[in-house]
Amino acid sequence: MTQTENVPVTKETPFVPIEKIVSLAKRRGFVYPNSEIYGGVSGIYDFGPLGVELRNNIRRYWWWSMVQLNDNIVGIEGAIITHPRVWEASGHVENFVDRLVECKNCKRRFRIDHLPEENLLQNKCPNCGGELMEPRTFNLMMETYIGVIEGERMKTYLRGEACQNIYLDYDNVLKSSRMQIPFGICQIGKAFRNEVTPGNFLFRQREFEQWDLQFFVHPGEMQKWFDYWKERRFEWYKGIINHRDRLRLRAHGPDELAHYAKQAFDIEYQSILGWQEWEGIHWRQDWDLSRHSQFSGQDLSYTDPNTKERFIPWIVETSGGVDRTFLNLLLDAYEEEPGEDGKEGRTVLHLNPMLAPVKVAVLPLQKNKEELVNTAKDIYNRLKRLMVAQYDDVANIGRRYRRQDEIGTPYCVTVDFDTLQDSTVTVRERDTMSQIRLPISELPAYLLERVTWH
Ligand code: GAP
Repeated sequence: MTQTENVPVTKETPFVPIEKIVSLAKRRGFVYPNSEIYGGVSGIYDFGPLGVELRNNIRRYWWWSMVQLNDNIVGIEGAIITHPRVWEASGHVENFVDRLVECKNCKRRFRIDHLPEENLLQNKCPNCGGELMEPRTFNLMMETYIGVIEGERMKTYLRGEACQNIYLDYDNVLKSSRMQIPFGICQIGKAFRNEVTPGNFLFRQREFEQWDLQFFVHPGEMQKWFDYWKERRFEWYKGIINHRDRLRLRAHGPDELAHYAKQAFDIEYQSILGWQEWEGIHWRQDWDLSRHSQFSGQDLSYTDPNTKERFIPWIVETSGGVDRTFLNLLLDAYEEEPGEDGKEGRTVLHLNPMLAPVKVAVLPLQKNKEELVNTAKDIYNRLKRLMVAQYDDVANIGRRYRRQDEIGTPYCVTVDFDTLQDSTVTVRERDTMSQIRLPISELPAYLLERVTWH
């Protein structure tokens, strides 16, 4: 399946309450609260058996489309901990702060720049009307220490954004690969922020994962490449969702732009949380490489091998979140379908088949018929080598279909008494619930064509 062929949702579906996603995610093993038996830690989550499959698919698909398909892009994987000077050069130590006020009554905290003017003027809590304390400054960087001897330990930080490794390794990549400008470096990796107001499930966490492209260009070609990546990334997101009308590009206003940025765009998705950023397309100019040159004393300029022109490359950044993708895909895919003619309804995840955590379930019609079970297990054992598959013989067939619908499994293969006669099986498709009959020998090719990207 190509990225533009996923299932279109034609009927108007309402926004899904976040609680429904949280509940399904825990019940079916997608996401668990971290350290739950100790009461949990706000803004930190673990991923369960299905969550890890979905997450891996999301990551691999991004990597495939960004690194594997583009001859002028390579990937790296940098460490979470770096030299502390990195975060001075990046400006995080100085500027990665939130100014907050706390309510004396309900103890809730609010960013000053998010507080309605009326509340700011009256010093009144927007939640309970209580009195607000003096504003305080919170640094979002998570501190850690390298070394074991007290007094000699070096304070540093868990990276506040994954992209810094790319600037640090830029020169090594240039020297160790045959890349020439324009070229890009990609990375997927964890980032850590002491978010003061974590919340909305995976939306704003303290430990999360980012995917970045840093694309290095000649200053004279910046606008061309900025426009190119803005469009490419927007189309990419459009290709993995059903509700395409819930995606938009929003230009940053002048007050949102970094001082070096001529423009910036957010790719936003609309859900019960409103329009929210999914990925940022940033005009970083020569800011990052110039700062690291200045702070490290290393020359990070580039010499064009043809013209011999020397310059600091300018950078187009596309920076998105793996966790936001995970959450938005669930919000986008979730549907509660009412049953028709008095029949029981179903909950279904209309996930794009290439991203769905389980691709196929193999179900014998009855579990007390040895021949059915043996044939089904044989098919399952063959399919699981090619794709993530499940075998299920517990409960009636309708209930088993619904169990798979709820986790987004695009295909169910049923082994029945006809199978024993003619070696064909029923293949049921998740969204339409339509069924076809197929020879067992044709199953692998039929499924692979539909559940893998190519
Ligand atoms: N290097 C640029 C950068 O870090 P950002 O807008 O702060 O830019 C990029 O982050 C993406 O990372 C966001 O679009 C979002 O998808 C994700 N992200 C940022 N903070 C997050 C958080 N606290 N929890 C989950 N995802 C987050």
